[in-house]
Amino acid sequence: MKKKTIDDITVRGKRVLVRVDFNVPIENARITDTNRIEASLPTIRKLIADGGRVILMSHLGRPKGQVIPKFSLAPVAQKLGEFLGQDVAFAEDCIGEKAQTVVDALGDGDVCLLENLRFHPEEEKNDADFAKPLAALGDVYVNDAFGSAHRAHASTEGVTKHLDTAVAGYLMQKELDALGGLLTEPQRPFIAVLGGAKVSGKLEVITNLMSTVDAFVIGGGMAFTFLKAQGHNVGKSMVEPDLLDTARQILADAEKSEMHFLLPDDCLAAPAMDKPDMLKIMPTNDIPDDVGGFDIGPNAAKAFSDEISGAKTIFWNGPMGVFEHPPFDAGTRVVANAIATATDKGAKSVLGGGDSVAAAQAIGLLDRMTHASTGGGASLEFMEGKTLPGVAALNDR
Ligand code: 3PG
Repeated sequence: MKKKTIDDITVRGKRVLVRVDFNVPIENARITDTNRIEASLPTIRKLIADGGRVILMSHLGRPKGQVIPKFSLAPVAQKLGEFLGQDVAFAEDCIGEKAQTVVDALGDGDVCLLENLRFHPEEEKNDADFAKPLAALGDVYVNDAFGSAHRAHASTEGVTKHLDTAVAGYLMQKELDALGGLLTEPQRPFIAVLGGAKVSGKLEVITNLMSTVDAFVIGGGMAFTFLKAQGHNVGKSMVEPDLLDTARQILADAEKSEMHFLLPDDCLAAPAMDKPDMLKIMPTNDIPDDVGGFDIGPNAAKAFSDEISGAKTIFWNGPMGVFEHPPFDAGTRVVANAIATATDKGAKSVLGGGDSVAAAQAIGLLDRMTHASTGGGASLEFMEGKTLPGVAALNDR
């Protein structure tokens, strides 16, 4: 990695200001998915073991600069304490007297968590008058929040202007190594399995990976824009009409190159998503006007799995159908199994956060994947070839 990490600094007796991404789902003050907390434990444990005074900061949800109790990080401090087996002090504000008092009370190896950064509108505005007092809480800065690295906010970018030492944590390092390896040295064949509702969300990823991958496997709602661009009737399936020309161009570019570009040749069609009892398996080249496709069909799932079984590197982002509405989860299950099986045989599989990780977890296959990113938007922007401001701001080696 080109950036310095926590292995390059000494922290004993120092106040270590650590940006983590503890943006976890909370229902009735209960955390329903602790993945992101657990993913930062190696960094936190290392800083504790080395005698740092660990000051954790994060956002939670999108409170838009308001103090909204349901977005409080207090339940996270509690849960983190359970994981660490030690008390995690909680500061009811991330700057000012409340934060300072908690930070001043820390001894070597102690940990505290500051209240939601986004309770202050200045965080997202990357306001220097907010970044400066935030930075003043620490002596050195660590960014382990890969999931927020695509945001140029005060806690991810602004604070680095006030602290000379700004390095990556282990999670940040792991994410950059896993995703970066796809772009720079993929073992071939390298396959990108893309799904999800819209082409618009994946357009820049497709464009950036066009010269790198050996095959695209395209499912989900986004496949229908490509099928329509090929001249097929797709019935009521989701289509983005303003992207038909772009889709045609991508198909033409793929045709000219040696790559495989797989679209589903059949789908699970129904009059509406909430009418699965009327579901029919249909070819995708002539879907009647009164139905739409909500998942890839069994032929497509088989063809996709065959392609995946020959891959040495796999990037997966987005489900193949409306995963959260069975039976439209069938295609995603088959494809996820194919990726897990290829991984068992030695392929490297990287899941680009968000829905694909949630799907793999729901199916019980997450442990068999090589790397599941904790960043949804961040991993997409990385795969689009963009510079992530939270990474750019860290010290170079
Ligand atoms: C995420 O959940 O993708 C990150 O925590 C970033 O959250 P945001 O999209 O609200 O900035």
